[in-house]
Amino acid sequence: MADLHEKAKEAKESGQYNKIMIITDGVFSMDGDIAKLPEIVEIAKEFDLITYVDDAHGSGVLGKGAGTVKHFGLQKDIDFQMGTLSKAIGVVGGYVAGKQNLIDWLKVRSRPFLFSTSLSPADVTACTKAIDLLMESTELHDRMWENGDYLKKGLKELGFDIGNSETPITPCIIGEEKATQEFSKRLFDEGVYAKSIVFPTVPKGTGRVRNMPTAAHTKDMLDEALAIYKKVGKDMGLI
Ligand SMILES: Cc1ncc(COP(=O)(O)O)c(C=O)c1O
Repeated sequence: MADLHEKAKEAKESGQYNKIMIITDGVFSMDGDIAKLPEIVEIAKEFDLITYVDDAHGSGVLGKGAGTVKHFGLQKDIDFQMGTLSKAIGVVGGYVAGKQNLIDWLKVRSRPFLFSTSLSPADVTACTKAIDLLMESTELHDRMWENGDYLKKGLKELGFDIGNSETPITPCIIGEEKATQEFSKRLFDEGVYAKSIVFPTVPKGTGRVRNMPTAAHTKDMLDEALAIYKKVGKDMGLI
């Protein structure tokens, strides 16, 4: 945040820009940590910046499903909220929400909006239904959080490094790139599909297998996954 403050000040004082925008993820996809939106909003107010939150990993997850902005109660302070319909919503497509004048501007200036085919009626219906389900009850949301907590606890107890995730995104940090890829392959051979993520997607030496528990996982499935993590982790001398 100190660095952001410094850069915002520098940009504003340079007088080179008509508009300055802060863009952040709501939930960071690789570590599962949450953006410090209240502090970001303070900085934006101080230097009159536009705020833009990419909530691909926050919608359906934080704010009882409504996303990171709602989680912090900052609906009035964030200018743009963009999200995907491909993750928690489980379909395809995306959305931008924001103040009317910014949306009007996007409708005439956003190339991906102007030059892309719209979603099919079937996709729209599936998205609408998923949003209805999210709004009707927090049951699926709550189960996903329970499953996330359960998996995190289990992996931690086995001795894996799961970083500092604040959400159900559960990285299992192995470190070295080759070992991470080998670990993922061995997990797959045993029945767990969890992809390795290595440099340049994450910094060198922080390769990880990323897990995303969902509401559809049962405790039996998670226990089975944990048993496989234990076996492969021990075989490879990681735990
Ligand atoms: C932070 C973030 N924003 C946007 C996207 C794009 O979403 P989609 O693949 O649905 O276009 C992704 C991931 O795919 C993402 O991780």
